[in-house]
Amino acid sequence: MGYNLLQKKSMDVLMHEVTTEKSLKRVLGPGGLTTLGIGAIIGAGIFVLTGQAAAQYAGPAIVISFIISGMACAFAGLCYAEFASMIPIAGSAYTYSYATLGEFFAWIIGWDLILEYLFAASTVSVGWSGYVVSFLKDFGINIPAYLSSATGTVLADVPGIGWKEMTSQLSSELLTKGINIQSLPHVTAILNLPAMFIVAMITILLVIGIKESAGFNSVMVVIKVTVIIVFIAIGYMFINQANWTPFIPPNTGEWGHFGWSGILRAAGVIFFAYIGFDAVSTAAQEAKNPQKDMPIGILGSLTISTILYILVALVLTGIVSYTALNVSDPVAVGVNAMGEKLIWLRPIIKLAAIAGLSSVILVMLMGQPRIFYSMAKDGLLPSVFSKVHPKFQTPYFSTIITGIVAMILAGILPISILGEMVSIGTLLAFAIVCISIIVLRKTSPDLKRPFRTPLVPWIPALGAFVCLAQMLALPWDTWLRLIVWMAIGFIIYFTYGRYHSKIANFTK
Ligand code: ALA
Repeated sequence: MGYNLLQKKSMDVLMHEVTTEKSLKRVLGPGGLTTLGIGAIIGAGIFVLTGQAAAQYAGPAIVISFIISGMACAFAGLCYAEFASMIPIAGSAYTYSYATLGEFFAWIIGWDLILEYLFAASTVSVGWSGYVVSFLKDFGINIPAYLSSATGTVLADVPGIGWKEMTSQLSSELLTKGINIQSLPHVTAILNLPAMFIVAMITILLVIGIKESAGFNSVMVVIKVTVIIVFIAIGYMFINQANWTPFIPPNTGEWGHFGWSGILRAAGVIFFAYIGFDAVSTAAQEAKNPQKDMPIGILGSLTISTILYILVALVLTGIVSYTALNVSDPVAVGVNAMGEKLIWLRPIIKLAAIAGLSSVILVMLMGQPRIFYSMAKDGLLPSVFSKVHPKFQTPYFSTIITGIVAMILAGILPISILGEMVSIGTLLAFAIVCISIIVLRKTSPDLKRPFRTPLVPWIPALGAFVCLAQMLALPWDTWLRLIVWMAIGFIIYFTYGRYHSKIANFTK
């Protein structure tokens, strides 16, 4: 008999694992779970990528991109909610697919989730670096541009603005002002040190055992959300409708650069801003009433974030021209445009962004080792990944490996490449989750489903379709990186995982 790639982890095995693991305190209600979701969701997407995607791809129509992307997430969120209520066990799409679709799909999702969690930690750290550099600069502390940008980025010292990446867009903008970019002083960046620093700090915290503290997260969420609401409320008064015209800038002739193709491409990029609602599923064992409250946490955090995102996008593109937003701290640029009277708001916005981004990095760097841990427990990764520190009681090995890799990526790669990798990887995971719901309704119609995705198969099918459409809109080199990444995953599975998988023995 050949090896069964589709062998599943039964509910009995899952329940056995839960009861033999040290159980966590059930403290989180619907409010706590929603707060947890918002803590993981609101971060670099809104504070950094919105501006860049508006400037490069969609203009003010970034608002439409947010709606499209939000819809894809709502469909995927409904599917996640069904899984989370059906298998209310701390896990992720990896656990769900192991129980339902079988080992091979679980591996694919687990490997793909590294793009979501580990790469997202690096991406958000680069965003953190942008805001920290800008914050310190306001206090006269200058971190040199060549030590706070991705390796190899060529930066020019633009009069009145400071160091900026030398892109062809910047070059033509300067040319219209009679400045030849080549004549400006320029440097080549070595590393993004602040981004590496924050990953290192949070990794150390996680190794010595910062507990998944709903309290810490709540404080961060209150700060982020309050400041975002203040930005929307004050910014609203500074909207200049001229900045919204044309709302959809005409396509430049190149696919994905403005016009409707640009809106779609921007949707693929800012999809990043929604990532994190699935992190709610990792807290199932801390939920008081997971079957009822997990769907509320997932869908509630998604709804609140979507509303805030659409409003921020409207205000931001209303107070400054989208062409000015291709910077590492676009929301700060928006505040600058509100004039000298609101100077007090600048450091507050930046501090809130820094705090908010830190909490996202924390959740991502905490989530990744958990997934490695589960995969190692199942034998799909070497057992060292599930080693728990005798004193700190944390999965220190996988936390340190995650930290080192995330640190290197954050130091050398630009936010655009990292963010697009995260988006394509997560879109793939979401598409698989949506399809799984349809498959499972057919193969296991009798499983108890406390929450049911409405209108199956239409909602999951639409979810998968919009996810795939957003993937298709991403640049070809991002696809190539995804293909290489998945190929590496297949090699590891077929040379290691399938020979060490414990499930076959466990279920005997
Ligand atoms: N959604 C998270 C962020 O925007 C990953 O930072």
